[in-house]
Amino acid sequence: MKDERLRGKTAVVTGGRQGIGRAIALAFARAGADLVIVDIVFDDGKLDALAEEIKKIGRKCLSLQADISSKTQVEKMVKLAVKRFRKIDILVNCAGVWLPGQTLLECPEGNWDRVIDVNLKGTYLCCQAVGRVMAESKSGNIINMSSQVGLNPGTGAGAYSISKAGIIMLTRQLALELAGYNIRVNALAPGIVKTDFNRNIWDSPQAARQLSLEVPLGRLAEPEDIARAALFLASEESGYITGAVIPVDGGWQVSTKPRRE
Ligand SMILES: NC(=O)c1ccc[n+]([C@@H]2O[C@H](COP(=O)([O-])OP(=O)(O)OC[C@H]3O[C@@H](n4cnc5c(N)ncnc54)[C@H](O)[C@@H]3O)[C@@H](O)[C@H]2O)c1
Repeated sequence: MKDERLRGKTAVVTGGRQGIGRAIALAFARAGADLVIVDIVFDDGKLDALAEEIKKIGRKCLSLQADISSKTQVEKMVKLAVKRFRKIDILVNCAGVWLPGQTLLECPEGNWDRVIDVNLKGTYLCCQAVGRVMAESKSGNIINMSSQVGLNPGTGAGAYSISKAGIIMLTRQLALELAGYNIRVNALAPGIVKTDFNRNIWDSPQAARQLSLEVPLGRLAEPEDIARAALFLASEESGYITGAVIPVDGGWQVSTKPRRE
């Protein structure tokens, strides 16, 4: 049966070039949404290749280069999206960075600034600029990307876990502020997902096996696991859910086994 859950909707996905953002953009397109895919990296051709894939599914797609930590670039991105599609129904804040292996005692100020600027401030800037558009149309749906280490600290997570915890409170605060505009705001908190983001920690079969032992469901996540949860939050199936943070972590939060990021 054809999936029509997002028929007629326009979705903006940041960090759409690869990994989780890419899987979400494709899942949304297959459910009938038109897409605006955004990334800071444009010149490797991956964003345009994804746009072509989305068009082959039969949906419209606009690909844009923007650094989400820049207010000017975010506002320009939103202007172009609205010019093309006249509205934004769904925003997925997926762009993010992780600078691995740093304790907070070691973390240089520049790394702290970069992680907080992209992950937390960037999510805020996109929520603000798109939220204003959604507020005008009295309807919208925002999905933010936290992490399992936004709920619990993780070895080597450093400033990253703090940025992801900030995203949780940003989500809850916005859910409260925007409910009156009929805008829902929720977050996903994925476990370890097999993407380029953290390839260094899961790439060898031995490392993947070891990490899987920490996950009650016994495997690491694929980007599509997160995309299915995002699709649920984007659709009317979750119509009475706002301000929620949904772990998509194979049970990592409830495990008592030794942990690391
Ligand atoms: N992979 C995991 O294990 C995992 C776990 C929990 C949460 N997450 C979160 O999920 C999101 C996506 O992660 P992923 O694994 O797909 O990573 P990824 O590195 O594969 O993709 C992230 C994308 O974001 C883009 N990006 C980075 N900085 C940007 C900026 N300033 N402006 C615009 N785009 C920017 C990158 O170019 C990249 O294409 C991130 O927010 C990450 O923190 C990932």
